[in-house]
Amino acid sequence: MKQKEGGRGGQGEGEGRHENNEFAMLEVVEEGIGDEWKGLLGDEFNGRKRWMGSTRLLLLDERYANKTLEGLPQAVKAALEEAMSENLAHSFELARCKLTLFYDYWLMNEILEALLPKDMIIPSAFETVGHIAHLNLKDEHIPYKKIIAKVIWDKNKPKIQTVVNKVDAINNDYRTMQLEVLAGNRSLVTTVVDNGLRFHVDLATVYWNSRLATERQRLLQGFTHKDVLCDVFSGVGPIAISAARIVRRVYANDLNPYAVDYLDRNSVLNKLEKRIKVFNIDGRRFIDAMFTSEKAQSITHVVMNLPKDAVEYLGVLVHIPFNLVTCTMIVFFNSFIKYFHHSIYQAEQTQ
Ligand SMILES: C[S@@+](CC[C@H](N)C(=O)[O-])C[C@H]1O[C@@H](n2cnc3c(N)ncnc32)[C@H](O)[C@@H]1O
Repeated sequence: MKQKEGGRGGQGEGEGRHENNEFAMLEVVEEGIGDEWKGLLGDEFNGRKRWMGSTRLLLLDERYANKTLEGLPQAVKAALEEAMSENLAHSFELARCKLTLFYDYWLMNEILEALLPKDMIIPSAFETVGHIAHLNLKDEHIPYKKIIAKVIWDKNKPKIQTVVNKVDAINNDYRTMQLEVLAGNRSLVTTVVDNGLRFHVDLATVYWNSRLATERQRLLQGFTHKDVLCDVFSGVGPIAISAARIVRRVYANDLNPYAVDYLDRNSVLNKLEKRIKVFNIDGRRFIDAMFTSEKAQSITHVVMNLPKDAVEYLGVLVHIPFNLVTCTMIVFFNSFIKYFHHSIYQAEQTQ
């Protein structure tokens, strides 16, 4: 079946109706209701049941509109011939018809292709955080942002309830994203399932990155029930809370009061609050407080997930007297490669 004719059009932000009127139909008349023609309608039509009954309409590509039986695809010819040889009561007729397929019928990409200017890359890929679809639109898409979001929303309901676009690069201390709600429900509070646990997050006030799930899982594989973990930049707790299922004790900290509030709630939500002690102070003070307390000797792992600056905090760890830490303590930190060498150099200078 051919999907549509002509190039793209439809600028502006109306939903519009996308139509196609040019199809050729093969009308198949059969006796009784059998399954033998089902396959000819293709998998896409399974369940739609629009052509059930004694007369079946087999939709052909419009290029077969003026063909005779001889001109039809081999598979169609073979099936028709076979059916007629089995039952002489079967007959068929090639008929032209007008078929209008509306918005509901078309797939997301097909609609976007029809609505956006020709040659524009279709922005159909998006990340999801709970019920939120998160786009990263390019400048060329901005004039069409509302219609793009509306189509994505319409075609991904009910899983997607809100469509947002990242307005700016992340450049604030709490690593939150500047998001513009383009379609749907305005709430940026959602629930995410990560490594089998549930997390409430508010994308307007806290950091969340679903793409780090695999990395978090890799990290968790290194923990045992004997470990004690310090998560210096814990956010709403994807590492701290997941680790709490495995390790003996977790000390989790974040400077962002909203993140800490969600960290508390998420600990309770996952029934792990008894294993986690939560702090809301600067990372340096947290490290200092941990390693100048009686807890220091028990800590086996430190996690520092603050890619832009985490290496600077290594300097704080380096200053902790050796007799205060366990000799096997492991430190995980994330960094952007572009800052890494410079930061290592800085950490060395502070020793
Ligand atoms: C990249 S996010 C990581 C959060 C969490 N580990 C995750 O994977 O979702 C970094 C976190 O560090 C927190 N943060 C930034 N500066 C901080 C500081 N000086 N002390 C403590 N936390 C800080 C931010 O609020 C943010 O939640």
